[in-house]
Amino acid sequence: MTNCNFIIVVKFFVTFLIFVSPNKILAFYDRFYGYAEEPMGPSFSYEVFDVSTFGASPNADTDNTLAFEKTWWAACNHQGKSKFYVPEGRFLVGEIQFKGPCRTESTMEVEITGDLIAPTGIKDFPSNQWIGFSQLNDIFLYGSTNLDGRGDVEAWKQKSCEDSKCDKLITSLSLDNVSNSIIENISLSNAKGFHFRLHSASNVTVHNVSISSPWDSPNTDGIHVHNSSFIYITNSTIGAGDDCVSISTGSLDVLVSGTHCGPGHGFSIGSLGKVKNEEEVRRIKFQNCTVNGADNGVRIKTWPTSPPSEASDITFEDILMINVSNPIIIDQEYCPSNSCNTTSASLVKLSNIEFKNIRGTYRSDFGVNLRCSSVVACENITLIDVNLNGTNSTYKTPKEKWEQEKFSTKGSLNGLAVFNSTFN
Ligand SMILES: *[C@@H]1O[C@H](CO)[C@@H](O)[C@H](O)[C@H]1NC(C)=O
Ligand SMILES: *[C@@H]1O[C@H](CO)[C@@H](O)[C@H](O)[C@H]1NC(C)=O
Ligand SMILES: *[C@@H]1O[C@H](CO)[C@@H](O)[C@H](O)[C@H]1NC(C)=O
Ligand SMILES: *[C@@H]1O[C@H](CO)[C@@H](O)[C@H](O)[C@H]1NC(C)=O
Ligand SMILES: *[C@@H]1O[C@H](CO)[C@@H](O)[C@H](O)[C@H]1NC(C)=O
Ligand SMILES: *[C@@H]1O[C@H](CO)[C@@H](O)[C@H](O)[C@H]1NC(C)=O
Ligand SMILES: *[C@@H]1O[C@H](CO)[C@@H](O)[C@H](O)[C@H]1NC(C)=O
Ligand SMILES: *[C@@H]1O[C@H](CO)[C@@H](O)[C@H](O)[C@H]1NC(C)=O
Ligand SMILES: *[C@@H]1O[C@H](CO)[C@@H](O)[C@H](O)[C@H]1NC(C)=O
Ligand SMILES: *[C@@H]1O[C@H](CO)[C@@H](O)[C@H](O)[C@H]1NC(C)=O
Ligand SMILES: *[C@@H]1O[C@H](CO)[C@@H](O)[C@H](O)[C@H]1NC(C)=O
Ligand SMILES: *[C@@H]1O[C@H](CO)[C@@H](O)[C@H](O)[C@H]1NC(C)=O
Repeated sequence: MTNCNFIIVVKFFVTFLIFVSPNKILAFYDRFYGYAEEPMGPSFSYEVFDVSTFGASPNADTDNTLAFEKTWWAACNHQGKSKFYVPEGRFLVGEIQFKGPCRTESTMEVEITGDLIAPTGIKDFPSNQWIGFSQLNDIFLYGSTNLDGRGDVEAWKQKSCEDSKCDKLITSLSLDNVSNSIIENISLSNAKGFHFRLHSASNVTVHNVSISSPWDSPNTDGIHVHNSSFIYITNSTIGAGDDCVSISTGSLDVLVSGTHCGPGHGFSIGSLGKVKNEEEVRRIKFQNCTVNGADNGVRIKTWPTSPPSEASDITFEDILMINVSNPIIIDQEYCPSNSCNTTSASLVKLSNIEFKNIRGTYRSDFGVNLRCSSVVACENITLIDVNLNGTNSTYKTPKEKWEQEKFSTKGSLNGLAVFNSTFN
């Protein structure tokens, strides 16, 4: 067949197919002419990029970083619909960046069935993170994987935290500038630092994610939300040693619901006021959650001597506390390391905070502890239907020697209202 004839044949074929399936035709063009450089419409050629076909080996021993990178490159540059796929097995991978933007036409799927395990050392993580997704729009990450950060086997971790270098610890899963995305059904364990961090993310749903680490792991927050908006954390289970969820500066419109926390340090806003010019935190809601056996239930924390910033419109609603040390706490003298600049009070303004239908048991001397700034008043703090009972059974001497009261306040409060509540 001459070239000329070939083209005629193809054209005929193309014309025929147009009546059958416009999608197939685009895929056809894509393959033979590379048309999709500037696609005119959606193309639906669907391809699955399996790490095993790029040389990855599920023996828990081979370093698969390069194979994963190659697979991602192919999947992300595929024009059409694309899936990055990890089959069953245990895959050792080092620091890896799933970076966009991708050329895929629709949702970029990432299905991780097998477990991923991190290298044990800390030297191989130049960006202080293990698995990073960045500059991506519309990804769907799911699978029954466990991302094992192998932080527990590291004696260095405890050591480096004692030297107050916890900030440098390695985040297991990091989303940076990721939008319109869903993370579902995955689990994470034993992170070297934070388990899961969202930074500059927008419209991201985190659903049925399970996070577990020993109760005494240092600085291993479950999910840390920073400078992000429209974040929905639902139906998840978090016991991470540190904060289950922490909402930090620049975060707006975050909803945490149907989520179980414990053991660990509870659900937190903050810590806030560490540096100057922090962006505000606003419209945060924790709803229909359980806290079991944690040091704190729901907490807002700001550093002493902190520069001005704001946190407002925060709701904690329908929360069940089981044997929690500090079920409701605002702490504007937050100082975990005991080496803070306490020259002056926090200048972080907290306002319009509602605690509604919070019930259960606690094991400290007080159910509610509001330690507000003496300079910038906590404004409009409302408690409705809060019913907390102290139980002494497992109570040990608290680290902090606070007032022996069930409802304790300190500093300046403007507009504190309590309705239909009991503190036993
Ligand atoms: C954020 O990601 C998008 C792709 O989703 C990219 O176009 C944009 O440049 C990124 N922004 C920054 C600041 O990196
Ligand atoms: C948020 O992301 C989801 C999942 O990708 C998407 O279906 C939805 O349309 C997005 N919402 C907005 C307002 O963009
Ligand atoms: C998550 O798990 C549930 C229950 O097994 C299942 O119905 C759902 O399809 C899973 N989601 C994804 C995206 O696989
Ligand atoms: C949550 O995800 C796990 C897999 O990690 C799955 O086994 C379970 O069925 C899911 N549960 C729901 C309610 O989707
Ligand atoms: C916060 O996120 C916005 C985008 O939502 C970005 O433009 C800005 O640079 C981010 N700020 C920081 C401090 O990361
Ligand atoms: C969340 O999990 C509960 C069961 O624990 C289930 O009844 C509910 O439908 C789930 N919600 C979603 C959106 O999957
Ligand atoms: C509250 O969350 C639980 C799972 O933790 C779920 O079964 C229930 O449906 C949720 N209720 C509401 C009103 O969302
Ligand atoms: C403590 O804070 C005050 C007021 O901001 C400042 O003047 C002082 O230098 C700080 N001290 C230390 C040791 O950082
Ligand atoms: C607290 O104790 C009282 C009586 O001692 C009991 O009626 C109430 O149900 C308890 N509330 C909670 C939330 O445990
Ligand atoms: C506190 O509530 C009052 C009455 O609803 C309102 O006028 C005021 O603006 C609120 N304060 C703040 C800081 O929003
Ligand atoms: C609580 O513990 C203290 C010290 O162990 C004990 O004296 C007190 O009787 C206990 N209270 C209750 C209600 O069990
Ligand atoms: C307190 O309870 C009473 C009686 O159940 C109810 O009428 C009232 O609306 C409640 N107040 C608030 C602020 O919810």
